[in-house]
Amino acid sequence: MGPTRFALLCGLAFVFLVLHPVYGDVSYSIPEEMKRGSVIGNIARNLGLDLGRLSVRKARIDTEDTNVQYCGINLSTGDLIVQERIDREGLCAKKASCVLKQELVLENPLELHRISIRVQDINDNSPQFKEDSLKIEIHESAVKGARFLLDEAHDGDIGENAVQGYSLQQNDHFKLNVNTKAGSPQRSGTVLIHVSVLDANDNVPVFSQTVYKASLPENSPLDTLVITVSAADADEGMYGEVTYGFDHVSDENQIFFLDSKTGEVKVGGSIDYEKESSYEMQISAKDGLGLASYATLIIEITDMNDNAPVIYLKSVTNPIPENVSPGTEVGIINVQDRDSENNRQVRCSIQQNVPFKLVPSIKNYYSLVTTGQLDRELVSDYNITISATDEGSPPLSSSKTVQLSVADINDNPPVFEEQSYSAYVTENNKPGSTLCSVTARDPDWRQNGTVIYSLLSGEVNGAPVSSYLSVNGDTGVIHAVRSFDYEQFRSFKVHVMARDNGSPPLSSNVTVSVFISDVNDNSPQILYPAPEGNSFMTELVPKAAHGGLSGVQSDSGGRGLRTERLAVLSYSEIH
Ligand SMILES: *[C@@H]1O[C@H](CO)[C@@H](O)[C@H](O)[C@H]1NC(C)=O
Ligand SMILES: *[C@@H]1O[C@H](CO)[C@@H](O)[C@H](O)[C@H]1NC(C)=O
Ligand SMILES: *[C@@H]1O[C@H](CO)[C@@H](O)[C@H](O)[C@H]1NC(C)=O
Ligand SMILES: *[C@@H]1O[C@H](CO)[C@@H](O)[C@H](O)[C@H]1NC(C)=O
Repeated sequence: MGPTRFALLCGLAFVFLVLHPVYGDVSYSIPEEMKRGSVIGNIARNLGLDLGRLSVRKARIDTEDTNVQYCGINLSTGDLIVQERIDREGLCAKKASCVLKQELVLENPLELHRISIRVQDINDNSPQFKEDSLKIEIHESAVKGARFLLDEAHDGDIGENAVQGYSLQQNDHFKLNVNTKAGSPQRSGTVLIHVSVLDANDNVPVFSQTVYKASLPENSPLDTLVITVSAADADEGMYGEVTYGFDHVSDENQIFFLDSKTGEVKVGGSIDYEKESSYEMQISAKDGLGLASYATLIIEITDMNDNAPVIYLKSVTNPIPENVSPGTEVGIINVQDRDSENNRQVRCSIQQNVPFKLVPSIKNYYSLVTTGQLDRELVSDYNITISATDEGSPPLSSSKTVQLSVADINDNPPVFEEQSYSAYVTENNKPGSTLCSVTARDPDWRQNGTVIYSLLSGEVNGAPVSSYLSVNGDTGVIHAVRSFDYEQFRSFKVHVMARDNGSPPLSSNVTVSVFISDVNDNSPQILYPAPEGNSFMTELVPKAAHGGLSGVQSDSGGRGLRTERLAVLSYSEIH
């Protein structure tokens, strides 16, 4: 079955195209054994797809039920190309029609086109006889024209390329009676026939049925009895001794075992419905002298639920920006189950309590879709567990976990911890002294959450705020730039802005009130009479004035400053 000269001869010349416009499906017909890289057809043109968008839409060829990627798509030309060896015999054995099913998958939106590739037979197998030589024993009394059945030869190919005829080497005693058709180009196999001449044997073994049918569950263990065939021969002794056997070489002979004496057919290999769902074999019954008759044995395999569904993650958006709108498709999931009928019906689900759901899409595809607004600041990672369960009994299931991260969007402005801030400072402070600090928090990620503080420009008493205060951009600590004087002003307000480093940045403002407290830094001043004068001064002091006040004019400052030009008043003088 290897690639042959013939395969190369066929080349592209045999490729032709049948287009079915229905539902965007497309069919091609190709010979088997095309070289890798050969072009099957231009699928983009055949389906009317935009060539420029194939790449963006992640166009690819998917296969169902097989892991072999027989075909691929060239994203720049839109050509469907052969990627793996396509051997018709390996794919379809003796089936008259061999169709390879592929799917073209496009995303955004998800789109699926079925591709049927009819694989045509080429004559790459030679006929083979079961054995190198046949032994026939013929009675001496055999009349001219007596017929003796020979075992068939077997050919992996089909139709014209299967066995077309037999011929016998030139001889004086026998001739072959077969129909010979011409096949092109022909291949042949040979067998040597030994003829022994013997005593009379009148009766041929006769099978009890011409067709035996049996049904067998897959995975039946070795030695399971499938059916017993029987043939009767009316002759006696060795003439009537029947031997059963398979009639030609094929893979089936390795899977079933036919007891030559008892006619019991037993399991001799692994039975897998997914590989082969029925077997058809020719069996023979021969008597001691080689007279034979034939019957057909058909074994239908019944499916067991022995394949769990398999979940494939075909595409995923990860990380997902937190601002995607609900209903956004973030992943494509494909589920396959190799079993048949109910055993391959699969239900797919994800866990509750996540803002995602599975939406059944085309065929066995599902879209993973967001159901609500994502917020990275609340939940930044999701482990989505997809479970698939088939409808067999008992059902089989499997699951797959997808880790999804939520990517940050700069959607939070910095927020100050306080509504407003107050700073208290005593006058005559040192320039550069710390007044207070402001703090704003921003839960966004990295630079989107990095807070930078700055003073909003403005004026205090006609001078720019920056000449009074400064704020450390990183820490939010506010420093005095100069020394304040209570006697000049007692409080002022500034606005501090916190801005994040996103692009565009978000910000918020807060008011910082600075209160300056008085320090006893001014001596009392005698206003009248002028301190220059030396004479005793006369002042009217109310009668109720505290006695303690008499004598020294002092301020209420803690230090009890006195003016150096002390004024002494005599209480008695006022009276
Ligand atoms: C696609 O086709 C172009 C033109 O024939 C060729 O140059 C290119 O190598 C092909 N790409 C692939 C991935 O085969
Ligand atoms: C998701 O699974 C991974 C690996 O098991 C684990 O490290 C991580 O903490 C899980 N995350 C969440 C959000 O459950
Ligand atoms: C910050 O937010 C912008 C969108 O607002 C986003 O594009 C960027 O990736 C974010 N940065 C990080 C470090 O997450
Ligand atoms: C902060 O104040 C500035 C100047 O008054 C103004 O332009 C800006 O919009 C304010 N920002 C916020 C978040 O209030």
